[in-house]
Amino acid sequence: MKRILILSMLLPLSLMAAKTERTATVNVQTTKGETVISRNIYGQFAEHLGTCIYGGLWVGEDSPIPNTNGYRNDVLGALKDLHIPVLRWPGGCFADDYHWMDGIGPRDKRPAKVNSTWGGTLEDNSFGTHEFLNLCELLECEPYVSMNIGSGTVRETSEWVEYMTASDGPMAELRHKNGRNEPWKVKFIGVGNESWGCGGNMTPEYYSNEYRRYATYCKDFSGNRLYKIASGASDYDYTWTETLMKNIGNRMHALSLHYYTVLGWNGSKGKATKFSDEDYYWCLGKCLGIEPVLKKHIDIMDRYDARKRIDLLVDEWGTWWDEEEGTIPGHLFQQNTMRDAFVAALSLNVFHKYAERVKMCNIAQIANVLQSMILTNNEKMVLTPTYHVFKMYVPHQDAISLPLDVTCDNMQVPNERFNGGRNEEEPTRTLPLLSATASRDDKGLIHVSLANVDLAQEQTVTVNLEGTKVKSVSGTILTSKNIADHNTFEKPNSVQTEPFKGFKTNKKDASMITVTMPAKSIVTLEVTTK
Ligand code: AHR
Repeated sequence: MKRILILSMLLPLSLMAAKTERTATVNVQTTKGETVISRNIYGQFAEHLGTCIYGGLWVGEDSPIPNTNGYRNDVLGALKDLHIPVLRWPGGCFADDYHWMDGIGPRDKRPAKVNSTWGGTLEDNSFGTHEFLNLCELLECEPYVSMNIGSGTVRETSEWVEYMTASDGPMAELRHKNGRNEPWKVKFIGVGNESWGCGGNMTPEYYSNEYRRYATYCKDFSGNRLYKIASGASDYDYTWTETLMKNIGNRMHALSLHYYTVLGWNGSKGKATKFSDEDYYWCLGKCLGIEPVLKKHIDIMDRYDARKRIDLLVDEWGTWWDEEEGTIPGHLFQQNTMRDAFVAALSLNVFHKYAERVKMCNIAQIANVLQSMILTNNEKMVLTPTYHVFKMYVPHQDAISLPLDVTCDNMQVPNERFNGGRNEEEPTRTLPLLSATASRDDKGLIHVSLANVDLAQEQTVTVNLEGTKVKSVSGTILTSKNIADHNTFEKPNSVQTEPFKGFKTNKKDASMITVTMPAKSIVTLEVTTK
């Protein structure tokens, strides 16, 4: 109720301020820029949760759904187009309840267990270590394996690393027996997940000690080099980051952070496909709330690690709405609209900006759970608006982030104290109505991605590519009539990208492009220069 009141106070003001024509300027410094946007910022996350793995990725070799060694062909094809750099598995909360030995050997001999974290579903362990690491090979992405330190043992953890990566020894022999001779390369390992909550309800001091103990026995075998990731804070828990930086320091390669665009953890989170304009603007404000949160965690890290040797990984992020009616409670199946596409674009733009410290992000999750790339229903598959944003942004992977500044109209949106009052931000926050990012790839191509957040008005955006002359431009746009538009199994192509021609170059100033952005649209321009 309070939220609605603040919105009704704020929106009329912002609408009064609305001009008949919106203009914005984006100045890009094309000759500056040193930081690479790590491709791992485009990481994905697959948990044993609902139909993310079973049904979404994996159907088994005997399924009538066309598959390659048990992996759905339609999903594999769609994911290959995203150039997924890294895939996190098996959780999430599931990770700290997962015993990897249950998931190896002949499938009909693997023990079943109840997935007590996610809906009490029977987990038959038919998707285990081999199935995951072989999937990563098919997708040509790096595996990121989260270890169980909540209910597992140090021995289990150390033997899992050995099983996956050692060329010889008892664990390698067991792996050979299970059909895989060569060890896999596994770089990223997570030492627990949300250890302050579902991963053991630990204090940061206790977790720091546990991290040190478990990490000691995660060894480098046979030339494999591990990159160890400490289970980091949720949102505004700066004490967690401070304590880990102090107590773990260089014993970790990275520290994680989880930030969801969610209305709150208690009660309804709102429907994925039914929402008001006010809900939409609030949501984008909450999404951009990640920027001050990142800054504060980074400031703490900078105090302990001025040389930036420890990376920050946002290894869970995205929207979290009410589960769709008629789906299994605890399976977190939600639809995905143009609103989610904006959350994806705005979040990625922020991650690019902090790419000096932020080296990996994993959207939650890859299929059928939370803000997915893909939704499946038996043999049917749809690509979500979020998928399309990830595809439009592929050229930013491993490109150099170009510094830019944006001048545009703003809107004030409420910023309440969710999460038990831990949000210490201001009561309102500023939502810029244009969001932008730019990068230069190794072929010298410049890519500029723009998002016109305004639901009602087009914007004329002047993009100044300072220090260069434009030779040619091409573009792709994602937009739709209504912000709640989405793809369904019946109408899978309601929201999709189109070639974009709404730009003009300027004969007098060769560094300038004028872009006419329709209301609620996301555009990526590819620019060749002289
Ligand atoms: O992504 C769903 C859940 O959200 C994960 O299992 C957990 O880590 C987080 O709370």
